Amino acid sequence: LTTCDAIHEDFVQCMTMHSSSCIKASEYIYLHTPTSPSYASLLQASQQNPRWLNSTDSSPLFIITPYTESEIQASILCSRRQGIQVRVRSGGHDYEGLSYRCSAPFIIVDLIYLRSISIDLDDETAWVQSGATLGELYYSIAQKSRIHGFAAGICPSVGVGGHFSGGGIGTMLRKHGLAADNIADAYLIDVYGRILDRETMGEDLFWAIRGGGGASFGIVVSWKIKLVRVPPIVAVFNIDTRLEEGAIKLVHRWQYVADKLPKDLFIRIVIQNIAGESIQVLFNSLFLGRIDELIPLVNKSFPELGLKAENCSEMTWIESTLYFAGYPKGQPSDALLNRTTLYKSSFKAKSDFVKEPIPERVLKGILEWFSDEKLVFMIMEPFGGRMSDISESQLPFPHRKGNLYNIQYLVKWEDNGIRSSNKHIHWIRMLYKYMRPHVSHSPRAAYLNYKDLDLGINQQSNNTSYSQAKVWGKKYFKGNFMRLALVKRKVDPKNFFQNEQSIPLLSTPK
Ligand code: FDA
Repeated sequence: LTTCDAIHEDFVQCMTMHSSSCIKASEYIYLHTPTSPSYASLLQASQQNPRWLNSTDSSPLFIITPYTESEIQASILCSRRQGIQVRVRSGGHDYEGLSYRCSAPFIIVDLIYLRSISIDLDDETAWVQSGATLGELYYSIAQKSRIHGFAAGICPSVGVGGHFSGGGIGTMLRKHGLAADNIADAYLIDVYGRILDRETMGEDLFWAIRGGGGASFGIVVSWKIKLVRVPPIVAVFNIDTRLEEGAIKLVHRWQYVADKLPKDLFIRIVIQNIAGESIQVLFNSLFLGRIDELIPLVNKSFPELGLKAENCSEMTWIESTLYFAGYPKGQPSDALLNRTTLYKSSFKAKSDFVKEPIPERVLKGILEWFSDEKLVFMIMEPFGGRMSDISESQLPFPHRKGNLYNIQYLVKWEDNGIRSSNKHIHWIRMLYKYMRPHVSHSPRAAYLNYKDLDLGINQQSNNTSYSQAKVWGKKYFKGNFMRLALVKRKVDPKNFFQNEQSIPLLSTPK
């Protein structure tokens, strides 16, 4: 036997001993080896960033697709015994591919079959398993009620597991906060294989997994969420302006208005150069009310936008989720069940938070950057409203009062060759450098769900200190980073759950 075969054999034996289900019961095969017919398709299925397809990272020794908690417990236990790492994947949207790639020997625990959703309208709550997507969640809620929804992200194929545990920004954030702000309970399997709920895990760990990234602390199996009320009919609009139509002035003005509007109104900006021809500046809005209320509201606070009835449409909340996801009008809502992102291509993203309006000349400079590349996007999402009512330390996500908006910069490309990839990545790094004087500083803040390994990574040797990790940790978590490191020391003292940006152990109390 080679060493590799021996690891395989021991691991399979260990899984058989410790999981209550049979590995090969015909319809429930949950352990996939590189020779299984299912292995390659599983590896690629929910890998939403093809940028990593040619990477030199090792392939997973196994992919485990658990049907029950006991298979997750066994995966953790057997990986610990064998000294191999675990990467857990829910929707596979991690910006840096950390749910399915690793340079050390590892397995993937893919929660694709743990995606049940049960809704309790009396209580206005739902239990949702981590492997469900946001689209599946929205769809299930709408099947039961026209007046309930959930405050989470815009892209339906995003997985609940990664999204909730990293925050969760969506169109209802000004009214209801992040997805993580609306979680009431969770089940997590820890490094010892224990299944813990809110009560048994304690408030510190429950706090940490709502924005601190679940992957540092265990495997979250399911979440209890608080549904939010939505009106039976909502209004949306999309105003498409071009650079030559005075778009810069509008973007400039938006910065003074968007975070101060009533909580029911969300107007974001998407600047994009898709075809390499003209740069579009889109004002994209959800209003939790009707058009006749929306128009006077916008015309009073933001008359420069010139909003007219013909720019607006009324629809149900579930239709608005399809609208924001880019589906055409009339698309049946079961499109939300599609688990693959609509426009899948390689990408690199970065994020910023803005506290002071950016001067017009700088905005003009951004648009000039955009004329040099195609398939580039800058998404500006307004804060204020409920986000300002929540304190910085309430959850690990600290970017609350004082932030006007969040920026996500994104570049996509089709040709996955190294030279081509490097060229696009260089472009976004230069844009990020250009923005430095105009965004938050000390620290320059970033959003965990828009993960960016350029900010800094843990050492392979597993001994990154807290002070080394502060370089990137403070950007995501500010003052909450210390508490996350304390929780980590308590719940995973040997740093079993680790990755390039997992929370480090705090070795000496401060
Ligand atoms: P994935 O499965 O890759 O997991 C991401 C991270 O969480 C990994 O480190 C993984 O190990 C860990 N993890 C996953 N499941 C876990 C579990 N059950 N227990 C513990 N750890 C777990 N964000 C946003 O706020 N608003 C938005 O509108 C969007 N839109 C969007 C569109 C597209 C096309 C992409 C690619 C991404 C977004 N995002 C976003 C970002 C998204 O929220 C972020 O990438 C999430 O981490 C994705 O969660 P997944 O479960 O899909 O990813």
